[in-house]
Amino acid sequence: MNAALTPGIEVHASREAACRALAREIAALLHAKPGAVLGLPTGNTPEPLYRELVRLHREERLSFARTRSFNLDEYLGLPAGDPHSFRVRMQQQLFAETDFAPQNVHIPHSDADAEPEVRRYAGSLAAAGGIDLQVLGIGRNGHIGFNEPGSARESRTRVVALAPETRAGAAPSFGGLAHVPERAITLGVADILEARTIRVLAFGKAKAEIVQRMLEGPIGPACPASFLRGHGDLRLLLDAEAAGGLRR
Ligand code: GLP
Repeated sequence: MNAALTPGIEVHASREAACRALAREIAALLHAKPGAVLGLPTGNTPEPLYRELVRLHREERLSFARTRSFNLDEYLGLPAGDPHSFRVRMQQQLFAETDFAPQNVHIPHSDADAEPEVRRYAGSLAAAGGIDLQVLGIGRNGHIGFNEPGSARESRTRVVALAPETRAGAAPSFGGLAHVPERAITLGVADILEARTIRVLAFGKAKAEIVQRMLEGPIGPACPASFLRGHGDLRLLLDAEAAGGLRR
């Protein structure tokens, strides 16, 4: 792996245009390999991607019947079916709107006993043979999944404490900081880097600084997204605002 490798950077006219391009790539992968394993993120960033995948399913008969998916992360300490859980969001935005088979969809359980759940989740991913295409968003502090600043390149699927800024950012949607979980389960940086293909989405002014640090700052745990620069098949799909801080 070459740490100095320059990733492909694409600046699209809009977030929808970027997501359409990525949806086309996913459709091509599933056409060639219907049983492919997708790594999926939550957050606001991938919403246009999921809308486009649903459209391709409805209007162009893209099928996910054999596709396997692993979500990056999930809060811990929320009851099953909690509307704030990533499982429920994914269900609403993608799984229930397409033909994904429930047994092929993997997300850590937010109400599970944490350590056994970590082992179960890591085991399921290993049994699936790893991730073919990992879609990522970036946290404003440089997190990928819930690998907060301080996460090692070698980190694996585990229980993490959410960073104060991550909890503060989620507070409005939870109706106050006190309701935001303190812990989560996340795939580790090493698990993410083992994906055969990685595609990162980042949109809007609020992501310009972290995109710049990710691509042009030092590689290290202070910005976990910077570790992606060591990956051999990485592309970033940005809009002009998110690309606005790049020097080159
Ligand atoms: C979330 C998720 C990440 C996501 C990031 C950015 O909390 N754990 O996987 O990429 O934060 O979220 P957004 O896309 O809403 O900016």
